[in-house]
Amino acid sequence: LGPRDLAGRRIVISAGGTREPLDPVRFLGNRSSGRQGVALAEAAWARGASVTLVAAHLEVPPPAGVDLRSVSTALELQAAVQDAARTADVVIMAAAVADYRPAELRTDKIKKDETGDTLRLDLVKNPDILAGLSAATPRPAVIVGFAAETEADPAALLALGRHKIARKGCDYLVLNRVGWSQGIATESNDIVVLDRRGDIVNEASGTKLSVANSILDVIVRAGTPDHHS
Ligand code: C5P
Repeated sequence: LGPRDLAGRRIVISAGGTREPLDPVRFLGNRSSGRQGVALAEAAWARGASVTLVAAHLEVPPPAGVDLRSVSTALELQAAVQDAARTADVVIMAAAVADYRPAELRTDKIKKDETGDTLRLDLVKNPDILAGLSAATPRPAVIVGFAAETEADPAALLALGRHKIARKGCDYLVLNRVGWSQGIATESNDIVVLDRRGDIVNEASGTKLSVANSILDVIVRAGTPDHHS
């Protein structure tokens, strides 16, 4: 058995990918499997934390021991995360949240004889859950965001990460490179963790469980105080 260095901590983790409905049978989605978030939940629970897992369309089973809240859309994920965050010390936003949702949810199936050869969809921006949570007062002591980028050049990737953590206002950002066969919907991962100053505070590669433990190490080192609000 490993250390129970997260005993007494209340951690909310979002995982998976949201689905934004277009009509009763179709949605806009993404390829997130939820594996990294599920690995985080499993590792945090094993280290003694009480874990709420806000899960959007996981392709893997949720771990035992967690308080599971299943959601589908970005707006549902936001409501569940905000609710759970009220009593949390740590929030980790590992979910792939759709940036946009269809402006209109049709009550009937879109039919191609009506739309013709080209179908245009109007999309509206979803709220940025991570940025909203980070700007709220009171807010959880430690908020961790994820950035999955397809940028191949390491320096450019780091620059994107530094820009993103500043924009989101979270405490740490887990930066990973994704491609068609890397990072997303795969078993292993390759990440760096940035702090608010943009400094690299941890690096890890390997299984999503070992990467999860490296991310949790950063949170333990940050010494999350108990929730005061
Ligand atoms: O801006 P981008 O989507 O790259 O940021 C990724 C991070 O922001 C992830 O932690 C993701 O969970 C979070 N996010 C969010 N709300 C959105 C979009 C992304 O909280 N609408």
